[in-house]
Amino acid sequence: MKTILVTGGAGFIGSNFVYYMLRTHPNVRVVVLDALTYAGNLETLSPLLDNPRFRFVKGDITDRAAVENLFREEGFDAVVNFAAESHVDRSIDTPEIFLKTNILGTQVLLDACRKGGNIRFHQVSTDEVYGDLPLDRPDLFFTEETPIHTSSPYSASKAGADLLVQAYHRTYGANITISRCSNNYGPYHFPEKLIPLMITNAMEGKSLPVYGEGKNIRDWLYVKDHCSAIDLILQGGRIGEVYNIGGHNERSNLQVVKAILALLGKDESAITYVKDRPGHDLRYAIDPTKMRQELGWKPETTFETGLRQTVAWYQENRDWWEHVKSGAYLAYYKQHYGNT
Ligand code: NAD
Ligand code: TYD
Repeated sequence: MKTILVTGGAGFIGSNFVYYMLRTHPNVRVVVLDALTYAGNLETLSPLLDNPRFRFVKGDITDRAAVENLFREEGFDAVVNFAAESHVDRSIDTPEIFLKTNILGTQVLLDACRKGGNIRFHQVSTDEVYGDLPLDRPDLFFTEETPIHTSSPYSASKAGADLLVQAYHRTYGANITISRCSNNYGPYHFPEKLIPLMITNAMEGKSLPVYGEGKNIRDWLYVKDHCSAIDLILQGGRIGEVYNIGGHNERSNLQVVKAILALLGKDESAITYVKDRPGHDLRYAIDPTKMRQELGWKPETTFETGLRQTVAWYQENRDWWEHVKSGAYLAYYKQHYGNT
């Protein structure tokens, strides 16, 4: 049995990864370390709380003593770091917590891996570290060699973490890999991000706030395909390497919003154009050749199928997102664990 630490496992991608790993690897035990910030939702993991191959620990990756204790107690075989502040708009309002969690938190984990005897460490990063591409050059894509060139405090903090991870490899021989994925969507996505916000607002009859003219392009990947890519990197990725993850599913924001409305059988009258995001990245587009050639990875889910499944999931799991929107999800930890 191998024990993997998944930090940020109560968030969107981390929780999907936990389910993916427990489902596909019967010899894997997962420990989640999550601070349960506003973005962490223990209800998402509730079906696992009594599973003998799962343990949830509430804690902050910036808390060095707590992290080191947990490493000593568990003797991890590998660490996958999803824990982060992840919302660009929030990073524009309050940058500091992004630097603290995303950079300093990563350093604490790297140090713990080093102390633990060079534990395998995978950093979940983002294509946003490459900045953006122009809208009128569809021939351009981000490769692993594209220079780091960030736009928001969020992307700058993720880039800072990536550089630190690479420095630990070069300086201390740390046993690391980094993945940079495009925008994810799917179940358990917090409804402050574009796709779940639009689905849930449309279901509630609220307006759909599109920034600027809705022309910005994102490269969407169904979350399960991101999980399978990280799994492959953990198994066969070359140490010290960066891997880009994406499935060539570029859509403008307006195309995405209209597709959601069509799936819900609603007209487009609820779309409202609102003030643009400062520094708004124009286009993201990943070249995933290295993942395909080195690790044989390819995405399984087209955007049309993934979006249909995602809309259906939000229709079938109304309690989940209504608890998020009402704030009721914040009480779940206390209900389950009391005041511990
Ligand atoms: P999320 O905001 O849904 O989840 C983040 C999780 O981290 C939450 O459970 C939160 O409670 C936890 N967390 C935050 N600060 C913490 C701290 N100090 N200590 C411990 N836990 C803490 O984020 P997500 O969308 O699931 O993204 C996960 C990772 O993937 C992030 O590192 C993000 O940069 C990266 N990523 C996200 C996307 C995307 O489209 N969402 C794309 C590429 C990469
Ligand atoms: P988001 O989901 O915040 O992801 P990111 O900024 O990390 O790519 O936003 C995706 C795109 O959707 C981005 O171009 C901003 C836009 N957007 C809106 O137009 N309206 C919204 O309410 C939100 C949250 C995002």
